[in-house]
Amino acid sequence: MAVDVELEALLRPRQYPMPPYPPKVITLANGKKMVVRQAVREDVPAILKSVHPCMFIQRDFYNIVSARLYGELLAWYYYRAKSPYCLVGQVDGYLVGIVNGRMENEKVGMSYHTLAIDRGLRIGSHLFAAKMEYHIEYLGQEEVLIVAESPIGHRRWMIEYPLEPTTIPHELGGGDSWRLTRELYFAAKPRLVVGDRPVPQDLMDKAEEAILFADDDTIRERIAGLKGR
Ligand SMILES: CC(C)(COP(=O)(O)OP(=O)(O)OC[C@H]1O[C@@H](n2cnc3c(N)ncnc32)[C@H](O)[C@@H]1OP(=O)(O)O)[C@@H](O)C(=O)NCCC(=O)NCCS
Repeated sequence: MAVDVELEALLRPRQYPMPPYPPKVITLANGKKMVVRQAVREDVPAILKSVHPCMFIQRDFYNIVSARLYGELLAWYYYRAKSPYCLVGQVDGYLVGIVNGRMENEKVGMSYHTLAIDRGLRIGSHLFAAKMEYHIEYLGQEEVLIVAESPIGHRRWMIEYPLEPTTIPHELGGGDSWRLTRELYFAAKPRLVVGDRPVPQDLMDKAEEAILFADDDTIRERIAGLKGR
């Protein structure tokens, strides 16, 4: 694609400096080790392969969340998103979950989506906790604005943390935002934010070698909770 450099400079939104998210490893309920690490822009095509089949799964609102996530990742890939980030969960290199969001400004974080590709292991819960950890502890933000599209999401974030309701619109255009403050984060941290650092080198090497994609059928079965344990 030919790039008009001057026009691109107008189209590309502002990027705040963002310190990296230090990777961690979480031992899942099935004993497997999930590496949680920050994706880079060049990872987007590999991540999209796993998001794509989820766009056609109606169960538990996977379709709407995946379609939106797909667009957000493309926006990042083509420099059309302001200060975005994406964290991935990998088991033996395979992508098992994705979270993303962005900085609205230095103090306010905007949470986008959480997608668990393997079910029943709290992978989504662990990854959502990692993104809150990133906003509050590494980006040093005061608050994160969050909405839920699914009843499971509502239970996991609004009820489990718990988050506080606000009347602030959320950029995803749904219900008003719920807010995670620093105080709420640190109160929830002992219960919900888990993982060990540093990640052993062999696990890190495997995760960084490639973001593996099972195949469409395996992903559909995993989301139905039939495989992957
Ligand atoms: C919301 C989400 C990220 C939560 O992920 P998670 O923490 O890994 O949780 P799971 O989806 O695996 O499980 C949710 C519940 O259903 C249960 N469950 C999941 N699959 C199951 C299955 N096949 N059989 C029985 N129970 C199952 C889990 O045990 C869990 O119950 P609990 O809340 O009592 O612990 C995930 O459900 C998801 O990606 N949903 C689609 C997208 C979405 O809604 N994202 C959030 C938008 S706000």
